[in-house]
Amino acid sequence: MLELKDVSFRYTKKDPYVLDGISLSFGRGEFVAVSGRNGSGKTTVTRLLTGLEYPASGNIFFDGMDITSEDATMRSRFIGYVFQQPDRQMFMPTVYEEVAFGPYQQGKRGADLDVVVKEALHDTDLTDLAKEYPRMLSRGDQQRVAIASALAMHTKFLVLDEPTSGQDGRERSKLVSLMHRLCDKGITVIFVTHDMDIVARDCSRVVVIAEKKVAFDGAPEKLFSGAYNPESLGLSYPPSVILGRSLPGAPYCKDMDVFCRTFLALKGASVR
Ligand SMILES: Nc1ncnc2c1ncn2[C@@H]1O[C@H](COP(=O)(O)OP(=O)(O)O)[C@@H](O)[C@H]1O
Ligand SMILES: [Mg+2]
Repeated sequence: MLELKDVSFRYTKKDPYVLDGISLSFGRGEFVAVSGRNGSGKTTVTRLLTGLEYPASGNIFFDGMDITSEDATMRSRFIGYVFQQPDRQMFMPTVYEEVAFGPYQQGKRGADLDVVVKEALHDTDLTDLAKEYPRMLSRGDQQRVAIASALAMHTKFLVLDEPTSGQDGRERSKLVSLMHRLCDKGITVIFVTHDMDIVARDCSRVVVIAEKKVAFDGAPEKLFSGAYNPESLGLSYPPSVILGRSLPGAPYCKDMDVFCRTFLALKGASVR
C-alpha cells in the first residue's frame, strides 16, 4: 500500500500552497483515476508519490514504512512513472537497452537481465521494436517503453500522467487494456486523466483534486450518480451516463455497451 498522509506542498516558499493536508492511499491492483481541473495539482500529486518533489509537511508511506525522504531513484524499486512526454525519459540507443537500464542499475546481469527485459518487452507488445531508437517511436510506443522499463524493475505501482491526451481511439484502447492486464497481475495503476469515458468504464476508483484538497475519492458510479456535481469540479459526465439517465428505468450505464444493451432490452420489453 502507498499512502500520502496529511501532505501539504508548495513549489517555493514564495508560492501559495498547491495541496493542503491531503491524505490518499492506494491498494494493490487498483485502477485509480486522478482527475480535476487544469492546475488543480494532479501532476504535483504524482511527483510527490514518485519522489520528484517532497512534502512541505506530512508523510508518505510504502507498506507502512515512512519513505517521505526517499528520492525518486530509491522509490523506483516499487514505483514507475510514465511522463506526460515520455521521450524526455528515454536516453538509450535501443528499446532493449532502455528497458534494461533500470534492472542493470539494480544489479541484474547476463541471463537474469535478459529474462526480465524480454518478459517486459513481451508483456507490453514491444518485442518487435526491441532494436528501434526509442526517441523515434510514436508517443504510444514510447509510453509502453516507459511501462516496460518499470515492469522490468518489478514495479508495484505505475503512475501515468495524462497518457491518453492527444491519442487516437486505437492507441487509447491498447493502453487501457494493457492497464487492465497489469492490474490483474496485482500492479496498482494511478492514471491522471480528463477522459471521463475511461474513468467510468475502466477505473475502480476516482480521486478528484480541487481547491488544494481531495474533493472526491470513491467509485466512479458514485461520482456520476447525481448526488455529486462533477461539473463543479471541472469534470464532464460520460455520454453513456447521460444517455442512460434519459431512459426511464435504466440502471447506471458505465459505457456505451451497457447503454446499448439496456436500450435494446427496454425497447424489447415495451414492444412485447
Ligand atoms: N515548477 C513549478 N513551480 C511553481 N509552480 C508550479 C510548478 N509546477 C506547477 N506549479 C503550479 O502548481 C499548481 C498545480 O500544478 P499541476 O500539479 O501541474 O496541476 P495539474 O497537473 O492538475 O494541471 C498550478 O497552480 C501550477 O501553476
Ligand atoms: Mg498535469
